[in-house]
Order: sequence, then structure tokens, then C-alpha cells
Amino acid sequence: MSTVSPLRPAATNPATRPALTDALRAEVAARADETLALLQAAVEEFGAEGQLCFANSFGAEDMVLTDLILKHRLPIEIFSLDTGRLPAETYSLMGEVESHYHTKLKVFFPDTAAVEAYVRSEGINAFYDSMASRKRCCQIRKVEPLGRALAGKKAWITGLRAAQAATRSNLPKREFDAGNGLEKLNPLCDWSETEVWAYIRLREVPYNALHDQFYPSIGCAPCTRAVALGEDIRAGRWWWEDPTSKECGLHVKKQ
Ligand code: ADX
Ligand code: SF4
Repeated sequence: MSTVSPLRPAATNPATRPALTDALRAEVAARADETLALLQAAVEEFGAEGQLCFANSFGAEDMVLTDLILKHRLPIEIFSLDTGRLPAETYSLMGEVESHYHTKLKVFFPDTAAVEAYVRSEGINAFYDSMASRKRCCQIRKVEPLGRALAGKKAWITGLRAAQAATRSNLPKREFDAGNGLEKLNPLCDWSETEVWAYIRLREVPYNALHDQFYPSIGCAPCTRAVALGEDIRAGRWWWEDPTSKECGLHVKKQ
């Protein structure tokens, strides 16, 4: 029996990433132009006083946005959330990004006292014990630092795509993020995974080595595994939880 959800495409992987045909090259060039125009419009609208930022997890989609922003010197603040549990490969890529783009990263860390209290009361790997404990860990290591990163901003940009998950199928290009009180822009909303990878290969963008080891989506090391051939993109994230509801709290909608 197939384990692939009919709602989501199977992940591409190093073995099945499509050939860079002329048609695909043209498609990606058009996508990149369109996305650059969206980013430039966002700079016009929000960028004047540094009130526009981009949340960079160093996943494949975020590397496309990082490349567009840094190559075109757009005045968009790029920040990342270091949970303290990221895979070694992500830290390697972070260093590579610094040298490739001649930049220094802006990284937010979790509150030390909150992590210490969580680990003391629940355990070092308590996220496997229950969804409630997992969500508390994400709250401390991701959501609270995100709130600090977004403080004083008018809009934030993400690398979310609609095709990534059932929970993201109605993703708009722009929405008001009521939970954080600012606009949220998802300029890669309509990109396919094929287009993301074609951009990365055509423009020689650095990317996480785990992507070549069957990790299409990468988060914290203990909560991410490789996917099997044909499994969907986020099958390796919190794989022990229900796929129709697994989100870490960064992108949960407050009605
Ligand atoms: S998650 O909610 O499941 O962790 P995912 O890994 O798919 O999210 O990433 C979706 C988007 O959320 C990324 O494109 C990025 O904009 C933002 N994001 C996720 N994790 C981080 C992180 N550690 N630092 C900064 N932004 C992040
Ligand atoms: Fe904690 Fe896992 Fe969430 Fe990372 S993804 S913050 S380790 S529960």
C-alpha cells in the first residue's frame, strides 16, 4: 500500500531531480524575475526604515530567497533562529553562506533559563514523549525567539510553499499574521520543488548537504529524518505525529 498522500507531491531527491531543459531554465528565470519584483515591491512598501525582514532556516527555498536578496543587495534584514538542536550540516551551511556572500549572519537564540527549566522538568529529548511536550520545546526554542526577531517590524518574508504540506495548501502570497501583528509575505508560494532545485543548480547556490541524503525538509536534528522514495516532502519532520496537523508554531494561524 502506498504511503504517499494524494494531497501532496512526492519529494524530488538527488536521483529524480529533473534535467535542466531549456523549458525549465526559462520557467525558473521567469519565476525568479517575478519573485525579485515582489521583493522589490516589499522593499518599497516596508523597507525604508529596516522594517522588513526575512526568516532564513537555510532550507532549499530559503537559499533561493537568500540568493535573490543578497545578490541584488536588497535592504531586507535576514535573520535565523538557532534552536541549539540544528544538524551539524546546517551549521556548516551557515558558515558557507557567510563566506559565499561575504556577510555575517543575524542569529537569535532561545532564552537560556527557559531551555534549562524545560530540560530539567521534562528531559533532554522530551519532545518524543508527547505532542504537548514537543510544542513546549518548539515554543521555547523557535516561537519565543521569533517574537523577538519580529519586534518592531512591519512585515516578514518566509520561504513557505503551498505544495509543501496539507497544512499549507491554501497559503496566500500575502496575509496578515495576526499572531505576530504584522504582514507576512510568502513570495515562493507558487514555486514547485522542481523549480527551487533548478534555481539552486543553475545559479550555483550553496545548500544543505542533507538535501542530497534524502532530507527534502530540514529542521532540528532530533525531529528530522530522511524520507523514503515516494514519501512526501515533510514526511521526515516530526514523523511520529499526525501529518495533517504537524506545525511547530511558527506558522500557526491565529483567527
Ligand atoms: S517549520 O515550521 O516546519 O519549522 P519549515 O522548516 O517548513 O517550517 O520552514 C518554513 C519557513 O519558516 C522557512 O522558509 C523560514 O522562512 C521559516 N523558518 C523555519 N525555521 C526557521 C529557522 N530556524 N530560522 C528562521 N526561519 C525559519
Ligand atoms: Fe524542539 Fe524538535 Fe521543536 Fe526543535 S523541532 S524546537 S528540537 S521539538
